[in-house]
Amino acid sequence: MKRVLVLDGSTRKMGNTSILLQHFIEGAEKNTNKVEHIIAKDLDIKYCNGCLRCNLVKRCAIRGDDWEDLSQKINEADVLVFASPIYFHYVTAPLKNIIDRFRSFVHVQITETGLIHTPWNNWNKDFVLLLSMGSSDDSDAQPVIDLFDYMKEVLGDNNRLHVIKGTRLAVIKQVQKTEEELKELYPKLKLNRKLVRDDYNRNQKLLEECGELGRNLTKD
Ligand SMILES: Cc1cc2nc3c(=O)[nH]c(=O)nc-3n(C[C@H](O)[C@H](O)[C@H](O)COP(=O)(O)O)c2cc1C
Repeated sequence: MKRVLVLDGSTRKMGNTSILLQHFIEGAEKNTNKVEHIIAKDLDIKYCNGCLRCNLVKRCAIRGDDWEDLSQKINEADVLVFASPIYFHYVTAPLKNIIDRFRSFVHVQITETGLIHTPWNNWNKDFVLLLSMGSSDDSDAQPVIDLFDYMKEVLGDNNRLHVIKGTRLAVIKQVQKTEEELKELYPKLKLNRKLVRDDYNRNQKLLEECGELGRNLTKD
């Protein structure tokens, strides 16, 4: 049975990110009962302090927080889900804090032309990015996608990246609002009401896509 670890960067309960995640998890739970959902801001994770001892000791040298336990779960997961609202073209701070600690999963060698990364464990995982953003232009998420393209490569030869992006999602629970609710909301956001029908259908498809991805990645 596949192990799924969700690292949830949401800062508000039942926001759009949580709803995308809920659909992904419901899909995954059709095939596995090994889904763990971790809310990044609820963990005690210290900042990476740049000591670089991980290059020598093959693990993070910081002690006394939740990383030891979390890093074991990350290592064991088949599917690693990172979910976040886009904040200033990036993930939220609690998730970024965890991502910095991923430095301890790789050896880094400086060369004259760049860096050579060698992972301590050559992972073969599905990386999933679930991103929710206010903008109608999904390029706001591009820096995050670029980061994960890079991460999946430095952490192993066989990792795969799957990305789902929800756009034009400004207010809480917007992604699951009915067509009638969107008709009331859009004028308040100064958005053209003509967008409502297509956006409603697009949101429904987005939620289905999350469920489908959860199901597909957990098939044995
Ligand atoms: C501090 C902050 C920064 C944001 N920056 C961006 C941004 O750069 N691009 C964007 O499209 N949306 C941005 N947003 C909007 C959120 O990404 C969007 O409303 C998202 O759907 C919220 O997800 P949630 O409902 O899960 O909290 C920002 C929101 C906040 C609060």
